[in-house]
Amino acid sequence: MCKYLYGIDFGTTNSALSIFDEEKNEIIDTIIVPSILYFPIDQSAAEPLKYVVGEEAIAAYLDDGMQGRFMKSIKRILPRSSFIETRIYHKKFNASDLVTLILKELKTRADRMIGYDCRKAIIGRPVFFDDDSTAKDALAQKRLKTAAENAGFEALRFQFEPIGAAFAYEQTIVEKEKVLVADLGGGTSDFTYLELDPVKVGNKDRKKDIIATGGIYIGGDSFDSAFMWERGTPYFGKNTMYEAGPGKMLKVPVSLFANICSWEQMNFFNGQKVKNDIQTYYHYAKQDKSFKNLITLTDHNLGYSVFQAIEKTKIDLSKQTSSIFKYSKMEIEINEAVSLTDYDSIIAKDISKISRYLDEFLAQHQIKPEEISSLFLTGGTSMVLAVRNLFQLRFPNTPIHTGDNFMSVAKGLAYSGYLFQDAN
Ligand SMILES: Nc1ncnc2c1ncn2[C@@H]1O[C@H](COP(=O)(O)OP(=O)(O)OP(=O)(O)O)[C@@H](O)[C@H]1O
Ligand SMILES: [Mg+2]
Repeated sequence: MCKYLYGIDFGTTNSALSIFDEEKNEIIDTIIVPSILYFPIDQSAAEPLKYVVGEEAIAAYLDDGMQGRFMKSIKRILPRSSFIETRIYHKKFNASDLVTLILKELKTRADRMIGYDCRKAIIGRPVFFDDDSTAKDALAQKRLKTAAENAGFEALRFQFEPIGAAFAYEQTIVEKEKVLVADLGGGTSDFTYLELDPVKVGNKDRKKDIIATGGIYIGGDSFDSAFMWERGTPYFGKNTMYEAGPGKMLKVPVSLFANICSWEQMNFFNGQKVKNDIQTYYHYAKQDKSFKNLITLTDHNLGYSVFQAIEKTKIDLSKQTSSIFKYSKMEIEINEAVSLTDYDSIIAKDISKISRYLDEFLAQHQIKPEEISSLFLTGGTSMVLAVRNLFQLRFPNTPIHTGDNFMSVAKGLAYSGYLFQDAN
């Protein structure tokens, strides 16, 4: 009988698995894998499809000169009812099939560490997979369940990701607290308000301790998209004029640039029609130099490397007041200073959406700021200064704690074994 249980946080950017020893009642290790898939270009129809996951996927993709199929932010397709399947070379993949590959990788690595085929897992899910459509939400969870089953899990429970984060925080406190947990990730920002008590760790029923949960479909990916839109696309010809008729100059349609600003579009970018349109505009734009960069970007799949530069700028600006947005590849040259003030204004819309949502959340659940004992912020996006400022300004008299931004959800999920003792 396997004495282990896995807590699995399948994230938009990173996925983590915590191995919980149910006899010793402790976590023995946590693994993190970037939620990225890469299918190299040299495939043979006679053999099973070759693919790589995580850090190795990034390295192989860059090594291969960014050819092949590279997929990021796959979690975002889970609630998309319009997404049925995608063909990758000779094989078709539905949403669950893609997620299975990531969950399988985590399971294989963890099984190897414990020497068992562990089939018991608590899987995290955001409070909302998508904003307010319950049908899409149910679809996303169903797809995630199928993916987990196909990855080899039999005993499965779901837990809200921010509740996972809260249980990880509970391990560090010494007395009862009412805590507002904010888990700010790549895809979503999730909130939970609950009562934590160190003496309740491991209790069978924690349901009544959870006072409110909520979330919004905005995270670090949205910041990167906003940055690409504001600071990236001008280098790819967003302001290019073309000759629409004799003597009639118009700006190229902005819709051409939506594809290069979001990962959902880029993962399944069906190039040919868009590529033809781009060529036509290029012709009528009299071979505009920056518009040519758009052709280079789409022809050579440079999207990921541009987003790496964008993320680097964001990460710099979470610890300093200025950075350089720098990119140099195939005659695309970007070298632009970005101050923290610039960055704050680029993401201002998203920050105010998070802020407004937070106000609604507090009002809807009648939570008074003065009754909150402390805040616990986690997730990679909690490192963005504008996000921290938002919480500091909103709760000036409440202690704000942070934990391991990338592991706390998986750890807390592993501490949620009580879910297996519930009747339903
Ligand atoms: N130092 C940093 N400063 C700012 N942002 C960061 C930093 N490090 C990582 N990020 C951002 O954090 C996000 C990833 O965070 P995290 O791993 O918590 O998300 P996730 O769990 O994969 O996503 P989700 O929970 O929404 O599904 C990315 O958008 C990444 O760019
Ligand atoms: Mg997360």
